Amino acid sequence: MVMAEEETVVAAAVEKEEPKDVETTEEEQAAEELCLGRCKSHIFYLLYVLKWEDVEIGEPKEGEIRVKNKAIGLNFIDVYFRKGVYKASTMPFTPGMEAAGVVTAVGPGLTGRKVGDVVAYAGNPMGSYTEEQILPAEKVVPVPPSLDPIVAASVILKGMTAHMLVRRCFKVEPGHTVLVHAAAGGVGSLLCQWANALGATVIGTVSTTEKAAQAKEDGCHHVIMYKEEDFVSRVNEITSGKGVDVVYDSVGKDTFQGSLACLKLRGYMVSYGQSSGMPDPLPMTELAAKSLFLTRASLLSYNATRDELLQAAGEVFSNVASGILRVRINHKYPLSQVAQAHEDLEGRKTSGSVVLIPDGVFER
Ligand SMILES: NC(=O)c1ccc[n+]([C@@H]2O[C@H](COP(=O)([O-])OP(=O)(O)OC[C@H]3O[C@@H](n4cnc5c(N)ncnc54)[C@H](OP(=O)(O)O)[C@@H]3O)[C@@H](O)[C@H]2O)c1
Repeated sequence: MVMAEEETVVAAAVEKEEPKDVETTEEEQAAEELCLGRCKSHIFYLLYVLKWEDVEIGEPKEGEIRVKNKAIGLNFIDVYFRKGVYKASTMPFTPGMEAAGVVTAVGPGLTGRKVGDVVAYAGNPMGSYTEEQILPAEKVVPVPPSLDPIVAASVILKGMTAHMLVRRCFKVEPGHTVLVHAAAGGVGSLLCQWANALGATVIGTVSTTEKAAQAKEDGCHHVIMYKEEDFVSRVNEITSGKGVDVVYDSVGKDTFQGSLACLKLRGYMVSYGQSSGMPDPLPMTELAAKSLFLTRASLLSYNATRDELLQAAGEVFSNVASGILRVRINHKYPLSQVAQAHEDLEGRKTSGSVVLIPDGVFER
């Protein structure tokens, strides 16, 4: 197994209500509570336990389809659920919120979907770390024939998040200046490309020179190495003291206060994640000095209806087809190595999209 024992024991102990149980029955506890993968015949778990179990997928019921996944998108939200930052409704649970695959069965009476259709999905229900899964038909969207399912699985959730941010939370227009944290990440890469295409001046923050080069290619006019430079001062310099129209902040704890400081009068603070941890609570009065707008956006509330889902996915897929969005699939892992993928994502070692490929899981 790929995760270092001491690191994962600490993580598990933090999550447990009764840490002593972890010490006495650690393998069992980890296996029960940190299921990290599922295929037709096995479940496997993060931490130092790699456990395989038989799982019955079953047949789709009314309104459902069964999908054989060709690729599964890895997202930071999977890390939040694994670590208990977000609580799963059941234990054990199978993480994963993004995948593309082929329909292998449809529920009784279902119209509009047939065996052989290539579909993608993003968001609830959780459980895409699997070879095959049952999904509500209304949650999937058709993948255009021209689009490789691996690309679809790499872009559907992250691209619709970028869509939510630049088209709905704060509508980016020519002349705007936007600040994007983690500009070389899965969402960040797409967000920078989209904001640039909409005519904005894009400022991106990244942690390494490799990521800086990628962010430049993805349309950042200015790149700030936020581990080495004070990003607030740099934004101040770049904007000649005016500040930016909007900050898209997915880093959270380490950047939140600085992001507010980067905004111009009546600017928009769009918080949509917390890869570095939850930001400290903010007194409302802190927004008053510049009459700032603040939102904590979630894709689930922006894709609340079928029409919203179809519109967002349609825009993403058409932007991919037209070349406005280049999907960087920088990392592919076999599904069986999902723990390593998590470790790399958490360790800031990845850039662009990370996908898990189910094929070959059982060959080792
Ligand atoms: N609200 C929503 O509906 C929604 C939907 C999708 C994603 N999100 C959020 O969007 C963000 C990006 O998701 P993603 O899947 O595309 O991940 P990602 O951006 O590819 O990976 C996270 C990146 O965050 C940066 N980071 C800064 N401080 C970090 C820390 N202490 N630990 C780990 N990473 C840190 C790293 O980039 P550097 O090395 O360049 O600093 C890292 O590569 C996440 O916060 C996620 O929760 C939100």
